[in-house]
Parts: sequence; structure tokens; C-alpha cells
Amino acid sequence: MSVAVPSPSTSTARTAAVAQPGIELRKVRKSFGETVAVDEVSLVVGRGEFLTLLGPSGCGKTTTLRMIGGFELPTSGEIAIDGETMNHRPPHRRPVNTVFQNYALFPHLTVAGNVAYGLEMAGVAKAERQRRVADALEMVRLPGVENRRPSELSGGQQQRVALARALVNRPAVLLLDEPLGALDLKLRKAMQVELKQLNRAVGATFVYVTHDQEEALAMSDRIAVMSAGRVLQLGTPEEIYESPRNRFVADFIGQTNLLPVEVVAIEGDRARVRVSGGQILTCRTTAGAPVAGPATLAVRPERLHLRSELGETGGLAWNHLEGTLAETIYLGTHTQWVVELPDGVSIVVHRQNRGPAERGESLGPGEPIAVVIDPDAATLLAE
Ligand SMILES: Nc1ncnc2c1ncn2[C@@H]1O[C@H](COP(=O)(O)OP(=O)(O)OP(=O)(O)O)[C@@H](O)[C@H]1O
Ligand SMILES: [Mg+2]
Repeated sequence: MSVAVPSPSTSTARTAAVAQPGIELRKVRKSFGETVAVDEVSLVVGRGEFLTLLGPSGCGKTTTLRMIGGFELPTSGEIAIDGETMNHRPPHRRPVNTVFQNYALFPHLTVAGNVAYGLEMAGVAKAERQRRVADALEMVRLPGVENRRPSELSGGQQQRVALARALVNRPAVLLLDEPLGALDLKLRKAMQVELKQLNRAVGATFVYVTHDQEEALAMSDRIAVMSAGRVLQLGTPEEIYESPRNRFVADFIGQTNLLPVEVVAIEGDRARVRVSGGQILTCRTTAGAPVAGPATLAVRPERLHLRSELGETGGLAWNHLEGTLAETIYLGTHTQWVVELPDGVSIVVHRQNRGPAERGESLGPGEPIAVVIDPDAATLLAE
């Protein structure tokens, strides 16, 4: 971004989300015949916030976005933008612009013509139009291509033109439906950073749709994880990743070990659980988690340690599980250790690779191995 970009801290963005609602969805529901695409979604997006709707195919992301844009009417419920009810306003009268996956540029118009199109329709004078088109192209880092046709640009450049076209009339809300889907991985990553910077620079509220969890973590102030038309959890990337509320969220975001356990005792926010083969562990419990009987324990592979790497006396309170090494897989940045527990359940441990020949690396399949668990890194799930 060549423009000066103010960089509010994440906590400022979070406070803003509560203080100044930009978009409000109240019990919004959308059914198509028998299909309930969106099921009573209530959500407040802060003014200027970057909110991502994340979930698998068919969970209702696009439908939610289309209702905010006015392309689809809710079956019931209410949508407000900047405090005003939008339910009966057509798309072109909402302070909203949308960027779709397949940028949908006009092939016969130049870049400038494409970006200026909305301004021309709105009757903005030529000189003003030219100035705003130049500003918008500058904003998306595409100056100097005004006179080219879309076919003379790369995919990433075309996507930037689509963004410039959406930003040129300074909408309060920008809706983005998998806008980076057609780009290769490297360009995608670069555009992710730029979109986030653009969000801060223009101050518009961004609602971004993706099924890519890594993309959601990288860009969002907050993420709404959706499944089957509902929002299962709404939180900052860190909250979603570190404290998933249920199985679906834990499993959908990143890689997680989900272990079947039996709760034996609860003490404050700690639980004692019986794992595979009768071994007892201490873990963290969450609101709504079972206080007795069967439950699911979630723990991230990178939060686990191998006993061998901690040394004889070192380590985390010796909260551990014993098993045998099933296999090790070298993955560049880290090595994946698969440990099999006595009753056949596997647990995956990730160890960052910092250099060759680390301690414990000489272990072979079938050898006994202990996995050490920080009680704070293992969470008992509510569902
Ligand atoms: N116009 C429509 N008519 C009938 N059913 C529809 C219509 N639009 C969406 N649906 C259904 O509503 C559900 C949600 O669709 P939606 O497009 O919102 O999902 P999505 O989360 O955007 O999925 P994807 O990641 O595949 O784009 C799906 O079951 C879909 O088949
Ligand atoms: Mg979709």
C-alpha cells in the first residue's frame, strides 16, 4: 500500500465493534423452500471492523452476505446498517458494495471505464470522476493502467480493479465473497495482507466470506464460524483458535487432537479426566463442558511436548500420556509425531524443526514414548 496506513491495535478494533455497530443482524433467517440456508443468525459487526464469515460449503455464508447487500430478502429477522433498517431497501440504495469471486469486469471497457462506471451512473462530473478513479487505483496499488483492458491484466491485477471499482464511491460497507479464490497461493497471501491494510486505510466495514481457515485467521478482527446456517462461535482469531467452544470449531480451524475422555473430577477451571487405557490427565474446562461422564478433550499438536525433549527432570508438571511411537513425518517447518495410546487412539504432536539432530529424534516406530501436556493447553469441550 503506498498510502499512509494508520494501524489501530487489535484491541481498538475490538472495542469499536462494541461501541459503534456498523451492521446488525437480528434473528435473520432465510429459507429456500425446504432448505434453511440461514437459521436465526444474530450478529453485530463494528463500524470499520474486518469480520469474516468462515465455514464449509453450503453453510450459508453467501446467503448471509447477499442479504446484507440486499440481493436476497430475509424470510424473517432484521438487518440494519449504521442504525438504519435495510429490510425494504433495494441493493443500489444501501451504502454497500460487493466484490465477487469472479471479478465480473466489463471486458470492453478500459480499467478507468470499469472503475468509473458506478460514478458515471450516479452522474458524478468528469473531472471529479477522473480524480476519484486515480485515487481508487492508487489505493489498490495499480496506478498507470487506466487505459488497459481487463484482458491485458493478470488475475491479481483484475481483482484489484474490481476492488477499486467497489471502493470508488466510498461505501460504508464492503462485502467480499471469496474474492481471492481464483488467485494462486502466493498472490493470495499478498492480497490478504493488502486487503487488511486497505480495510484500515479506508475505514469501511468489511464482511469477508471464505471457507479457508488460514485466510480467516490472517485477516480478520473477528471470525464468525458457521455451520448449517448458524453461527457456532464468534470471536477474535486467537479466541477461536485457542478456545474453541465445540468439536466443530476445534476441528474446522487448524489441526486438533480430539480425545474421548471420562471426567472424574472438577476443581475450579481445572478438570481431571481419564483418557485411553485409564491414564489420568489434568486439563482446562470451559463453560458448559460436562462435569462428569464422557467428554471430548481438544489439544493442538503444537502445544504438546515429547518427554524426551524436556530432559529427565524438566517439563510441565509431568502431566502426560504414555504410548508408543507410530510414525514421524518430516514436514519442513515441523515434524509430526504420531503416538499411539494403549487403546488404539492416536495423538499427534508437532515439533518445530530448529536444526538437525535434536534429542529424541533417534526413536523408531514401536518404541515407548511419553507425551507431556500443559494443562492450560488442553480444553474440555462443551459440545
Ligand atoms: N437461490 C437458492 N435457491 C435454493 N437454495 C439455495 C439458493 N441459494 C442458496 N441455497 C442453498 O442454501 C444453502 C446455503 O448456500 P450458500 O450459497 O449461502 O452457502 P455458502 O456457505 O456460500 O457455500 P459455498 O462455500 O459453497 O459458496 C445451500 O444448501 C444452498 O444449496
Ligand atoms: Mg458461497
